[in-house]
Amino acid sequence: MTPTKYELLLVDDELANLQKLERTFMGHYGIHRARSGEEALEILARVPVDAIITDQKMPGMTGIELLERSQKHRPDIVRIVLTGFTEVDDLIAAINTGKVHKYLTKPWEPDSLRLAVRDALEKMELVRENERLAAQLQSANERLRTENILLRREMESRTYPRAMIHGSPEMEHILGLLRRVTGTETTVLVQGETGTGKELIARFIHAESNRKDRIFIPVNCGAIPKDLVESEFFGHAKGAFTGATQDKKGYFEMADGGTIFLDEIGEAPPELQVKLLRVIQENEIMPVGTHQPRKVDVRLIASTNRDLRAEVEAGRFRQDLFFRINVFSVTIPPLRERTGDILPIAEFFLRHYSLKLNRPPGHFTAETRQLLLGYPWPGNVRELQNEVERLVLMAEPGKPIGPELLGDHIRRHHTAPLSAGGDLKSAIRSLEEAMIRETMARCGQNRSRTARELGISRQSLLEKLRRMGWPD
Ligand SMILES: Nc1ncnc2c1ncn2[C@@H]1O[C@H](COP(=O)(O)OP(=O)(O)OP(=O)(O)O)[C@@H](O)[C@H]1O
Ligand SMILES: [Mg+2]
Repeated sequence: MTPTKYELLLVDDELANLQKLERTFMGHYGIHRARSGEEALEILARVPVDAIITDQKMPGMTGIELLERSQKHRPDIVRIVLTGFTEVDDLIAAINTGKVHKYLTKPWEPDSLRLAVRDALEKMELVRENERLAAQLQSANERLRTENILLRREMESRTYPRAMIHGSPEMEHILGLLRRVTGTETTVLVQGETGTGKELIARFIHAESNRKDRIFIPVNCGAIPKDLVESEFFGHAKGAFTGATQDKKGYFEMADGGTIFLDEIGEAPPELQVKLLRVIQENEIMPVGTHQPRKVDVRLIASTNRDLRAEVEAGRFRQDLFFRINVFSVTIPPLRERTGDILPIAEFFLRHYSLKLNRPPGHFTAETRQLLLGYPWPGNVRELQNEVERLVLMAEPGKPIGPELLGDHIRRHHTAPLSAGGDLKSAIRSLEEAMIRETMARCGQNRSRTARELGISRQSLLEKLRRMGWPD
């Protein structure tokens, strides 16, 4: 410890005492002198003092009063009081509440006072060091947390399947529509039941856009606690609230230059809706605890599995925000309404999970395929994906996957419509259509091959497709 780096404030109303104090510390510390508590407070306001050594008994403010008041503004400095024997009782309370670190009774020895001051300054130094380290640790933690979020998102984007697997004309149509806006800055709203692939579509739009080399940040609007929403989305300045030890970037700033995916926007609480509207209108954000708006350049994609228009009518979603995000909207049909996707997706995951388990991929038997096609898949692609993962685990490696391995609910579903009676002609027709869709999907939409597989003429297939409303 190099003593001269510290500044002492010596306080006594009697000049002789003050001079004695000064002599005691001269050469070791920077010295400031005051003849009263009032004068001492003035100095304290101007000079970064490290320790106060004061007489207790002074006209006007007493030493303890001075230390008490100094504690409010400068809680971290050393406070020592010099006092007569008779006044010690008054001191006990002040010491117990931390207002005074140490007292020395008069007459005091220069050596013991010097020692007391040095000890106290050393302790203070340790406390300060501790606080510095704790603050550094906390800011390192904040930084790691942000980096962690970014890395995790990067990882996810690598593990998500690159392509939208599809074989249905419905999906082909949607992808065609989307290609018109991928290269633009247009806000896109993706609607659809759970598990239909809304997030995958959002990633597809980003991956096909001019921002593809920048970050894609998905945020679930319904999953963030209400009182954290503002700081999570828009960031905060150091000191904005208790615990804000560090400037923090929100999602919008992290996504600057890239794309933000507002997942489940229908679940955004009203406070968030107002703020989102502002970002969209002004292209700027206001971190909590700042008054200076910051420009951000972010492409927006939003998703919802609720009917947003109905939410607006019910007063749960702001109409102005709805208009802003409903610029270009696509609705992904449930899997049961695009049966042409079922087998290509199932076969994709069959290969995917077999590869993962290092097993030769088997294949689905005709009956299994029929059952997969006939089931309504309320959980959509996610449910199909899970079912195939389970099948791969249960099947013998490389062997055909028969219907007995399918979940009961899928097998049972098949028998229900057959026993439900109804008109034979329409039942045959729907079986015919299902087989055509399945074969078309399997043959990559190739009509000649499909006709061959089904054992009918190409002409007859084309007629049937026209009747089904299949696009040319
Ligand atoms: N066309 C597809 N090809 C391959 N995988 C798909 C396809 N559509 C969806 N998936 C897969 O299905 C799962 C669910 O997709 P995603 O998370 O995009 O759906 P979502 O509509 O956002 O669902 P939720 O409403 O539950 O958030 C993911 O594992 C995704 O990779
Ligand atoms: Mg989703």
